[in-house]
Amino acid sequence: MNLVIDEETAVLPQAGSACSLENYLALPDHSMDSRIAAARAQLGATTVLLGHHYQRDEVVRFADFTGDSYKLSKAAAETGARYIIFCGVHFMAESADILGRDGQQVILPDLNAGCSMADLAEISQVEDCWEALERFHLAEETIPITYMNSTAAIKAFCGEHGGLVCTSSNAGAAFHWAFARGKRVLFLPDQHLGRNTGYAMGIPLAEMTVWDPWSVQGGQTRESLTASRVLLWKGHCAVHQRFLPSHVDQVRAKYPGIQVIVHPECRFEVCQKADALGSTERLIALIEKAPAGSMFAVGTEIHLVNRMARRFAAEDKRVITLDDTGCLCTTMYRISPQHLAWALENLVAGRVVNRIQVRPEVKQWARVALDRMLEVA
Ligand code: 13P
Ligand code: SF4
Repeated sequence: MNLVIDEETAVLPQAGSACSLENYLALPDHSMDSRIAAARAQLGATTVLLGHHYQRDEVVRFADFTGDSYKLSKAAAETGARYIIFCGVHFMAESADILGRDGQQVILPDLNAGCSMADLAEISQVEDCWEALERFHLAEETIPITYMNSTAAIKAFCGEHGGLVCTSSNAGAAFHWAFARGKRVLFLPDQHLGRNTGYAMGIPLAEMTVWDPWSVQGGQTRESLTASRVLLWKGHCAVHQRFLPSHVDQVRAKYPGIQVIVHPECRFEVCQKADALGSTERLIALIEKAPAGSMFAVGTEIHLVNRMARRFAAEDKRVITLDDTGCLCTTMYRISPQHLAWALENLVAGRVVNRIQVRPEVKQWARVALDRMLEVA
């Protein structure tokens, strides 16, 4: 995929009057549809809209590309569009800015769309952890890997210290890359993805140690750090952590023959009971490949599960959520049709709102870590 601006058909933004967000927020969702479509048409090929699978239907239906974090980061790296509207969360928009070309501008329709997992690791805490490893002469044999769900500063840290970024679709490949270069992995910030990935490649649980950034020296000793092969940051996704092993037992008891598929941000005990794990993109692919008559319980965000349920019903495949209470990512939900219309119509008026810009000194090393991920994957 390589999107190039068609300058002949593109209508470039004209300088115009400001559009205030408050005016949009008072309007109903459905009234945004025609406005979003009209603004998209006016902006033409100057603008590409990327939508993560957890986005609301009212928003994701306007995306030029939908995907998991990996697919969207590739789309951002390859597009020639001048404006990238990222319907996702902050770390995704930051990554798009890092991977984007000179002159491209990335817009996050609502700046409050963060990620509670990414918030569980601050760069100063990561530096403290690294200092402890240096004190014990362990840093030189440790490769830092950060999950995409982290700040640009942490990605830069990994790039500068010989490490890389991964997503849930290529964490295994990133681990192999790291173990070809070091004895130990420092995995940030999702302990569950780190543990599930390490275990899948044969590392016993006893050799994976949790670094607690809120405890003195991570709650570890020199001996425990030295013995660890994977040092897991004590972070998690509040959405995926809600899925429990008892949910798996319950759906299996209720629907004999059901397949349980979950995102690897789920707890180890849930992943061990599941039939398969995968990124959002892979979860969709697993159902796509299944024969008619199959039934799945899916452990991931509810908007994606509901969309899959509707889509695959037409193929006589049943999809239900693993947890009846439904797990909603409230930060993904923040991108509303009103925010999208506001960002697009401002662009039509020549105003770039909510631009996400990573500082050049951070960008440089974060790019190294992201490029390594794209090469490894
Ligand atoms: P994917 O890379 O699987 O889309 O996951 C992103 C994410 O934030 C899951 O919580
Ligand atoms: Fe972050 Fe979890 Fe939401 Fe994914 S689902 S964006 S990890 S809070």
